[in-house]
Amino acid sequence: DDSLYKSMKKAGRSFIGTALTIRTNETREQEIVKADFNSFTPENAMKWESTEPSRNNFTFEDADRYAAYAKKNKLQIHCHNFVWHSQLPAWVSNGGFDNKTLIAIMENHIKTLATRYKDVCTRWDVVNEALNDNGTYRSSVWYDTIGDAFLPIAFRFANKYVSKNTELFYNDYNLEYNSNKTAGAARIVKLIKSYGVRINGVGYQAHLTSEATSSSPSPTPDQKTLETALRATSDLGVDVVYTEVDVRMNTPSTPAKLKVQADAFERIAKSCIAVKRCIGMTVWGISDKYSWIPGVFPSEGAALLWDDKYVKKPAYSGFLKGIESR
Ligand code: G3I
Repeated sequence: DDSLYKSMKKAGRSFIGTALTIRTNETREQEIVKADFNSFTPENAMKWESTEPSRNNFTFEDADRYAAYAKKNKLQIHCHNFVWHSQLPAWVSNGGFDNKTLIAIMENHIKTLATRYKDVCTRWDVVNEALNDNGTYRSSVWYDTIGDAFLPIAFRFANKYVSKNTELFYNDYNLEYNSNKTAGAARIVKLIKSYGVRINGVGYQAHLTSEATSSSPSPTPDQKTLETALRATSDLGVDVVYTEVDVRMNTPSTPAKLKVQADAFERIAKSCIAVKRCIGMTVWGISDKYSWIPGVFPSEGAALLWDDKYVKKPAYSGFLKGIESR
C-alpha cells in the first residue's frame, strides 16, 4: 500500500508532513492527509499577524482549529512560527520600541503561544528567515533593535515555555545549495549553543525549482550537494528537516517537465534518507490548486505532488521512490 508516511516510518524516520490550510469544501484534501501524512504545518494560522494582531490582544480562533484537528487525527504539528520579519503586524515592526520593550513583547508572544499549544506542538520554528542570501543577518525590527542576540533570546524563551519534548528549530530557505547562507545557518546553531541555549534542529525550507525560472536561475541541486548542505548543520549535533518542499517550474507543465520534477523530488527524499539526522520532510501544500507560488511568481507553479484535480503526479512516485531508497 502506497503511503508517504508509512514508507518514511519504515525508513526509521519520524514524519512526512504537509502545509495545511483547513478548507471545509475540499474533502479530497482530508482524505489525502489521512492516507499520506502524519504531520502538518499550519500554513498561516499561527503566525504573528494571525495570533496577536494588536498588542497583547490574542486571537486564537483559527489556530485552535489546527490544534483540534491534530488531536482528532493524531497528527504531529510543526508549529510555525514565533519570530519572523514577515506577516508581522505593523504595531511590532513600526512600533519604535527600545531593546528592552521589544524583548518583553517577544517573551509575551512566545509565552502565550507556547503555553496554549504545549501539548500539540511536536516542533516549533522559533526563528524564521533571519539570513540574507549572502549569509549576513537580514535587517528586521528584531536584528536592528536587539542585534544577533535576538536569536538566542528567542530560543531561551521558547525553551522556557514549550514542553520538554517539543523540538526547537531555526528555519530558512536557500540553505540547500551550500552557499554562504548554509554557513550562516551553521553559525546560528553555534551562536545559540554558545549561549548555553537549546536548539534541536534546522529547517531547510526547500522551495526549489526543476528548471531555471525567472525567480531562480539554479534548479534543484544534485543529491550529493543536498546531502552536504544537510550535514553542514546536522554535523553540529542537531536534527535537520525539509520543512516546506515544493519544486516549481515554468507553467504550463508538460510530461517531460513533470519527469524532471519527479527526479528532483526523488533526489530530495534520497538526500534526507542518506543523512541520519534528517528526521522528516514536509511538502508545502497538497494540490497545485492552492500553492502560494503563482500568486508570488507569475507563470511559475505546478510545484506539488498532486495536480489541481488531486491526481497524483509523477512527482509523488519520485518522492516515494526516494523515501524507499534504502
Ligand atoms: O486571508 C486573506 C484574504 O482574506 C484576502 O482576501 C487575501 C487577499 O490578498 O489575502 C489572504 O491572505 C493571504 C494568506 O496567504 C492566506 O491565503 C495573504 O495575502 C498571503 O500573503 C498569504 O501568503 C502566505 C505567505 O506565506 C505569506 O508570506 C502563504 O499562504 C504561505 O504559503 C506562505 O508560506 C511561507 C512560509 O510561511 C515561510 N516560508 C516561505 C513560505 C512561502 O512564501
